[in-house]
Order: sequence, then C-alpha cells, then structure tokens
Amino acid sequence: MHRRSFLISATGAALAPQLAWATQRFDLTAQPVNASLLPDGGPLTAMLGFNGATPGPELRFRQGEVRNIRLVNHLDQASAVHWHGLRQDNAMDGVPGLTQDVVPPGDSFDYAVRTPDAGTYWYHSHNRSSEQVAKGLFGPLIVVEDTPPDVDHDITVLIDDWRLTDTGALAEGFDDRHDQAHGGRLGNFARALFGMDGPVRVGDRLRLRLINVATDRIFPIEIAGIDGMIVALDGMPLATPRAVGELVLAPAQRMDIIADVTSDQQIDVLFPTRDGPFALGALPVNGVNADRTPAPIRALPANQIAAPDLTHAVAVTLVMQGGAMSRQMMSQSDIWAFNGQSGLPDAPLHSFERGQTARITLVNDTRFAHGIHLHGHHFHEIAANGALGDLRDTTLVDAGASQDILCVFDNPGKWLLHCHMLGHQASGMKTWVEVT
Ligand code: C2O
Ligand code: CU
Repeated sequence: MHRRSFLISATGAALAPQLAWATQRFDLTAQPVNASLLPDGGPLTAMLGFNGATPGPELRFRQGEVRNIRLVNHLDQASAVHWHGLRQDNAMDGVPGLTQDVVPPGDSFDYAVRTPDAGTYWYHSHNRSSEQVAKGLFGPLIVVEDTPPDVDHDITVLIDDWRLTDTGALAEGFDDRHDQAHGGRLGNFARALFGMDGPVRVGDRLRLRLINVATDRIFPIEIAGIDGMIVALDGMPLATPRAVGELVLAPAQRMDIIADVTSDQQIDVLFPTRDGPFALGALPVNGVNADRTPAPIRALPANQIAAPDLTHAVAVTLVMQGGAMSRQMMSQSDIWAFNGQSGLPDAPLHSFERGQTARITLVNDTRFAHGIHLHGHHFHEIAANGALGDLRDTTLVDAGASQDILCVFDNPGKWLLHCHMLGHQASGMKTWVEVT
C-alpha cells in the first residue's frame, strides 16, 4: 500500500466541459482520451472520455423533455451509461444486468433520456464503474428550469480525485482488494474543474453546481470569496435556502449554491484537511458589476415529487455489513454485504406496489461511511427528531450510524440500490428493489 502525499494544484489547465444543447439525436462516443491533469504542462494522462474529452460534454436540457442520446462504444470493453438522479424510464436507466445488456465494443445503444426534474445531475458509466468512472467516463447533466434564477454566471464545478503515478499515469489496481475493504480508491491528486462561461466580477451573482464525481472520496468543501445560500441538493430545490458553511459531498452528491461575489480576491474552492486547507481550484475575479441591485436569494421552484404517505409507509431495513475489521471475514468477491447478501441478488430486496411509500432504515454496521444511492427515485432523509428532511438520491451514512429515508416508489421497474463508493459497489454493496 503506497501512501503518497496528496498533490494538489489549482494551476493546471482547466478541463472545461463543452456546452451541448442537443437538438436532435446527440451521440456520446466513449473512447480513450489523453487528459491534462497535472499542473504546469506535465505529461498527459491516458484516460477514457466521451467525445474526445474527460469530463464528457456538459449536457444541458430543458425540463420536461425527452432527448435521444446514442452511446457509441469505441472502447475495448463493454459499457453502459446511467443518468444519475434523473427519474428515468426503467429501460433507459443504464444498469447492465438489471435494465439492459452491456454495450459491447463497436456497438451502440439508443437512450431516450427524460428530464422530469430541473436541477444538477450527471451521467456516468455503469459498467465496471469502479474502473471506468475512475478513468473518466462521466460528464455533467444540467436540467434548466423554465424560469431559471437571475444569475450572471451558471457554473458547473466538478470535484474529482485521481490516483496518479510519478509520471502522471493513472495507477493500476482499480479493483484493489485492500482499497475496497477500506474507503475505496482514494486519489493522491484532486481538483475542482470549472465549466466557466465568462470572467467573474465583484458584485456578480453566481450559481455554482457542485458535483462530486470521485469514485470513492467524500469531499468536505469550503468556498472563500462568496456570500450565498445552498438552494438545492442532488438536483432538488430546498424549500428554504440554507447558509453555506462547511459543505460535505459524498461521491455522486450534488449541491447548488447561489452566491454573490463579495471580494476582488479569487474565489477559492478548498478542501479542508487536518494539515490545513488544500486549494482544489479557483475562479479569478476581474472587474466590477455595478448594475446588479442587491436582492434576496429565493428558493428555486419545486420539482413535482409525490408526497409520502407517512401513516401507511411499509418498513424495510437495510443493514450494511463487512469491510476491513468486520466480524465476518469476507471472501475475495464479497467484501461488503447488505442484509447478509453480497452482490446483486436474484430476488429484490423488496417489491413495492406502484405508489407505495416505504420507510427504509439504513443501518451502517461497518467501520466506514457509505453513500447509498437509489435509482429512479428521490427520497426524503428523515431527521433524528422524525421531521421530513431533504430530498436526495444519495445519502451519506456515517460508520456506526443509521439513517431513515422515506420514498414514494412510483416509478415502475427494477431499480438498483447501492453504495456509490464504487469500490464498495464492485465488492458486493448492491441490491435492487422492484416497483410493480
Ligand atoms: Cu451514479 Cu448506480 O449510480
Ligand atoms: Cu460504501
């Protein structure tokens, strides 16, 4: 186990995602790419990407559309794409073995992607994802409100880490058993990648869309140089915007912030650690916007999510088990388990009638945190006092903790439920539910 120091620099060339307003069919071609990850013109890194780049193009859709996207596989291994957080038709969800067959090399697959909810989402490979996402097969997916909030810049901020060798290559061992039994594949190099649309001025109002695209790392984040509010989590607007303090993003989680630029210093995205804050990236500030009149930050318009039926909720328990230092000594392929079952079971964890509300108690009986993701639905986190909390698609459950979630299962089909630490998913931490 090599423990290299964490190399971070904000000076490397930005990987600016391109904007793509898909009009007709949009082709996403998965292929090998060379990316500039290292600062100061260091060697390029051989990775995988879409349409010539990693991250892949930023897909911007309007709310309520259906878009035709063709995955074209120019990799030398099979793939599939999942539209993370979008409440999708089950056949379009992109999960090999559950909703479709893998797309072999040289083949293609036509997705019809629905965008019922406005917000910040992302797409990523869902085949051998601990390797393919680590290599770069993902991109942002933004669904724009009918009436978007009044901001000067709408900026996607992808937060990622990579494990690089001294020569800038991705380190091998994507399914290293030691990593999997602990916190997953953690990088030694991390960056915030900005999808900028222009220079930022003092007085500008920004919308920042943070997406943790790392395979396994939980990122605490601090942002210096702005004054604003959190307005959405995992795509879903907060009824009441919340002050921005220290933020935590588990893998796959998103956060929308609306904020005003308050200083002519650069805006720093920081990763606080015990050794002090590391700069993940910075947005330069240049000039002054004198035209904007101060206005309160308002809640975004709510998406139409069915209200849970609290009195008739069916109770389901999901116990996370395994990992290093666990009581049960797991074998090669099953390091992690849900309810004693490692890997995708033949039968669903539970079969729900369409429209049924479930209260799922997520019990973390392990020594590691897990970010649990449900496909095809959003759910409410339940606060310790029983109050209905935030709507999310991925919830972080700390080691030894438990978290209740409340979900209206109104989307028919077979839906994956798994840890989004992709090394944990690859080593057993997954199950599925059925909605009939
Ligand atoms: Cu972001 Cu099962 O996925
Ligand atoms: Cu996990």
